[in-house]
Amino acid sequence: MMTSDVTPPQADAIPAELLAEIEESITHYPVSKRSASLPLLHLWQNHFGYIDDSGIEWIAAKLELTPVNIYELVTFYPWFRREAAGKTVIRVCRTLACAMAGAYGIREKFCQATGVDVDHESHGFGHAPPTSSDGKFSVEFVECLASCGTAPVALINDDLVENITPEDVPNIVKEYDVN
Ligand code: FES
Repeated sequence: MMTSDVTPPQADAIPAELLAEIEESITHYPVSKRSASLPLLHLWQNHFGYIDDSGIEWIAAKLELTPVNIYELVTFYPWFRREAAGKTVIRVCRTLACAMAGAYGIREKFCQATGVDVDHESHGFGHAPPTSSDGKFSVEFVECLASCGTAPVALINDDLVENITPEDVPNIVKEYDVN
């Protein structure tokens, strides 16, 4: 077997800092450790970019659950993924106010500017959102980002970008095209 293609399990590379954050997070749920499932998944994905089998198993063991208890969350919530997304993830809101303000056209512009296949819209069930072939960008639709008054909006990594016009898109992408 060629070992060079094998990605090491994420659970074998948990840094002390992440471990400390996990331990601290669990203390917030003294009644039921299970309630820490989502916070731990967020911490894990924020660090590793996605959640592999070892992550599901590790979190389950940590919370005294079975892996399926964690697996079902990862495959239910589109936010979580079991494969890597682009370095920059562009989440375009498509709920009513944004849809009426042109969100569908904005998503198309983002796809064109980043090289993401505009026809590849769906994901979920743990799959990463559509991603450019250079791995720099993913573009996906999300539901209301609670900024309807400044529609159309997108969440780019952790930044909320508001009042986006189609003309703005190339410059926004350039700003995030750092390496
Ligand atoms: S509809 Fe887009 S932020 Fe609410």
